[in-house]
Amino acid sequence: MKALVVGSGGRCHAIVEALSRSPQVDKIYCAPGNAGIAALAECVAIKETDVEALRKFAQQKGIELTVAGPEVALAAGIADSFKQAGLRLFGPTKAAAQIESSKEFAKELMHKYEIPTAAFRTFEDFDAAMEYVKAGSLPTVLKYDGLAAGKGVVIAETLAEAEAALRDMLQDEKFGKGKVVIEEYLEGPEFSLMCFVNGENVYPMPVAQDHKRAYDGDKGPNTGGMGAYTELPFITDEDLTYAMEKIMRPTAAALVKEGCPFCGVLYGGLMKTPNGIKVIEFNARFGDPETEVVLPRMTSDIYQVFCDVVDGKEPTIEWNNLATLGIVLASNGYPGAYDKGFDIDGVELVDGSIYHMGTALKNGKYVTAGGRVMIVVCQAPTLREAQQKAAAEVAKIECDNLFHRTDIGDKAFKF
Ligand code: AMP
Ligand code: GLY
Repeated sequence: MKALVVGSGGRCHAIVEALSRSPQVDKIYCAPGNAGIAALAECVAIKETDVEALRKFAQQKGIELTVAGPEVALAAGIADSFKQAGLRLFGPTKAAAQIESSKEFAKELMHKYEIPTAAFRTFEDFDAAMEYVKAGSLPTVLKYDGLAAGKGVVIAETLAEAEAALRDMLQDEKFGKGKVVIEEYLEGPEFSLMCFVNGENVYPMPVAQDHKRAYDGDKGPNTGGMGAYTELPFITDEDLTYAMEKIMRPTAAALVKEGCPFCGVLYGGLMKTPNGIKVIEFNARFGDPETEVVLPRMTSDIYQVFCDVVDGKEPTIEWNNLATLGIVLASNGYPGAYDKGFDIDGVELVDGSIYHMGTALKNGKYVTAGGRVMIVVCQAPTLREAQQKAAAEVAKIECDNLFHRTDIGDKAFKF
């Protein structure tokens, strides 16, 4: 079988690697891929958002399964186009992907179907938004309604911060013309529950936790994710049942009722608050870097899982019991400005998996080529061992311009 994976980061590398373990798959293409993925797949220079070129490529090559990784491809309508052409694609339509691409759509859906989430109001007008913030309590959460690459959420501790953020979002249109969702501030540990979904059928993956802030102790700016781990000792079986029965299944059913059934990975960004588990956000795709720690645990054939989910059959999904932890190596300066092109040594010494995020090959050697550069992932019987192993393996990578967090997984032991 031939498979095509659309995307280029660490998440995409982990999907390609999982597919490469399938005995059914003999050829993997990746568009556009990266230097690490090139070891497992044939990378083709088509942009993730060039839906028509991707569709033509899939038709020409006789691709049996396409997996759409990034949100931009989904928002560009890749699933709609492939579906129309009769091609098998794992990923939601543009309408269903609104659960991620439009905060207002997601919040209205949760409100209508009584899915637990923070109280909210939507605003287009700066003055009205400011009035609402002044009447409420601080901190308050301001979310730009649209894809803003993780930069559209501001937690304002003061009125001045809220005012500045609302000016950016509503008056200066820094992200484009849009709306703002203002939310009640929630507290508690966050976790990610990704599920394979087709219509009302929902199959959970092991829960994981991302680390969004750049520096140890959850300090510094928000990033695309500096590390992740699975399982989470503070999430009980009862919590999981609640999250499945009150959040994930009802959301999938709600999308069916609204006329936009979901097919793909529905990602619940959840928080365990003192008042129960609530939704922080939904994504319409695999999470990054959660995927890099979750998929290595899958022991069943992921190609078959993808096909069964898309074809509406009951998939067999099995996981090992190993704690899995990944540490991201990022370029100094990230998520702000950073330099590229630094040699990376020691990759071949690492006893674990390495998923490339932003690397390039120069004279046969890997060099840095992005903000997040790679993630080193280790498995062990316990989380402590996985944490120690990942730290030891990361230390083998030598590069003059990389930093990483040293506390990935620590939060597991705090609750
Ligand atoms: P989002 O893009 O909606 O996931 O928001 C990014 C991050 O902001 C989340 O991972 C949370 O850490 C934080 N956040 C979002 N919404 C809330 C909220 N209502 N209360 C507290 N923190 C939040
Ligand atoms: N890990 C958060 C995300 O994928 O959006």
